[in-house]
Amino acid sequence: MTRPAAIITGGARGIGLACAQTLAESGYDILVADLAETAADDLAADITARGAKFAYHRCDIADLGDHAALVDAAISAFGRIDCLVNNAGVGAVVRGDLLELKPENFDRTLGINLRGTVFLSQAVAKAMLAAPSGIARSIITITSVSAEMASPERPDYCISKAGLSMWVKNLALRLAPENIGVFEVRPGIIRTDMTSGVSAKYDALIDGGLVPAKRWGETADIGAVVATLAGGKLGFSTGSIINVDGALSVPRL
Ligand code: NAI
Repeated sequence: MTRPAAIITGGARGIGLACAQTLAESGYDILVADLAETAADDLAADITARGAKFAYHRCDIADLGDHAALVDAAISAFGRIDCLVNNAGVGAVVRGDLLELKPENFDRTLGINLRGTVFLSQAVAKAMLAAPSGIARSIITITSVSAEMASPERPDYCISKAGLSMWVKNLALRLAPENIGVFEVRPGIIRTDMTSGVSAKYDALIDGGLVPAKRWGETADIGAVVATLAGGKLGFSTGSIINVDGALSVPRL
């Protein structure tokens, strides 16, 4: 039986790694695309132990010139692409007063999180359309509660995620007739390297009631949602936003 194949950007650690692991356990072959130079061997052992074939493509998703090579790497490894998980992203270079936000830092955050993701989605969508498939296909983008909730100490990050949210809506409309599900997954506060530098702040906020579920999110919380979406049973929900935040984003008094 043909196995489906997934590309996960930023899959060398954190949320992306959990997505790669869960998709591998769900029967997908896995290509991780990441900046990390030394990740490939450890990842290969982890992912193949879950029954999947594994490929690694080292790249910076902000470099649009590499996107064709990334698509080719997946096609040459697996002969197909059924799922793209747009996970790679960076936090604000500097957290601070937005009145001091520097254009070069704004450009870096937007260049990776928004521009890189938009054009990689475009390249993968074209490859999907060029090779029709009989099984569920999807493009799943990891945004953030910051797509909707403001944080004035890192507006560049919030703008990048809000922009991605609108990209997902447009892409969902374009690909709905092609039966490719397009989803936005919005994590809340998830325990990863990205949040390790501010973990004391988030510990205090969670203790203070910011997250009604009263806990940190774990990467496996996101992996489970992504694998469910990729599996196709929610295909008619294309264009939807799935919050994975312990009710953090629910407006309340
Ligand atoms: P992380 O920093 O632990 O891992 C990010 C991974 O992406 C790393 O492997 C890194 O090498 C890779 N990466 C970064 N820039 C890249 C680039 N330009 N090209 C290719 N790979 C690149 O981050 P984490 O926490 O796992 O976050 C993953 C995604 O989830 C990000 O888009 C982030 O904005 C989002 N997110 C994270 C939350 C959290 O609380 N950790 C909350 C909401 C959203």
